[in-house]
Amino acid sequence: MRRLRRTETLRGLVRETELSPAHLIQPTFVVAGEGVREEVESMPGIERFSISELVAEATEIAAAGIGAILLFGVPASKDETGSGAYDDEGVVQMAVRALKEAHPELTVITDVCLCEYTSHGHCGFVRDGEVDNDLTVELLAKTAISHAEAGADAVAPSDMMDGRVGSIRHQLDEEGHAGTPIVAYSAKYASAFYGPFRDAAESTPEFGDRHGYQLDPANAAEAVREAQLDLDEGADMLMVKPAIPYLDVVRRVKEETGAPLAAYHVSGEYSMLKAAAANGWIDERPAVLETLTSIRRAGADAIVTYYAKEAAGWLR
Ligand code: PBG
Repeated sequence: MRRLRRTETLRGLVRETELSPAHLIQPTFVVAGEGVREEVESMPGIERFSISELVAEATEIAAAGIGAILLFGVPASKDETGSGAYDDEGVVQMAVRALKEAHPELTVITDVCLCEYTSHGHCGFVRDGEVDNDLTVELLAKTAISHAEAGADAVAPSDMMDGRVGSIRHQLDEEGHAGTPIVAYSAKYASAFYGPFRDAAESTPEFGDRHGYQLDPANAAEAVREAQLDLDEGADMLMVKPAIPYLDVVRRVKEETGAPLAAYHVSGEYSMLKAAAANGWIDERPAVLETLTSIRRAGADAIVTYYAKEAAGWLR
């Protein structure tokens, strides 16, 4: 077996998995206000931008050859119904318009969820202490339409309500956005690895947790059922999240559906690598490239990762 491992060119001839900037999606936080560019404390290297700073940052992202950005909004104020999410003048809607005007070639995917916009931090409309599924689905569909009207290239619902993909597809079609794809977070687990994201998005639930809507980390067959339901409802691409603790789920969903698939290497996964690297405990660049390669090897077509821009630089 060692003969083909002797030189880099021989290894290159038989390498089974390819990792390139085109496979990577950069999650990006846009905040209300002007002149804002602030680092997220628990995510070294990741900043929150107001719109004009984001447009400047997008110049670098586009130049790095990255596949897309995934946009998250942090509004100036929050309320019970998360109305900032479906406001045509909301922070994401305005950012999408500015981005598409300045960088028409950059693919912009928007996160469709209410948690960044609700005062209680849950992903939907709360009634009697619980997230009401069907009312939330209505608000999510409104959100997706307003993103599509602003010019989003794809919408990505991350809320985990039942039936939201079907409802979003139906309403996008009705409103003249039949060409807008849905990237469905099909298997989003109730994970402890979202902590740093919740700092960045200010979306920690004020009471309770997300176990009533996100998947139980112990389940894999359930993820395949979620994926199949999303496909039946009209999803164009599926997503598994987080990535590394769920590589078996990535593999199963890919094998059992054959559908285009993304995996989300989440904030906690990023912060662990950054922290170990900052302490000199691991060599960051090879550790990150090995991590991202493993996600591709497991079966993901695309990888959402906070390392997208940095890794794209390493991969040139
Ligand atoms: C919810 C959402 C979350 C993430 C992406 N979308 C957090 C949550 O469910 O609390 C987490 C992403 C990450 O940790 O990087 N809209």
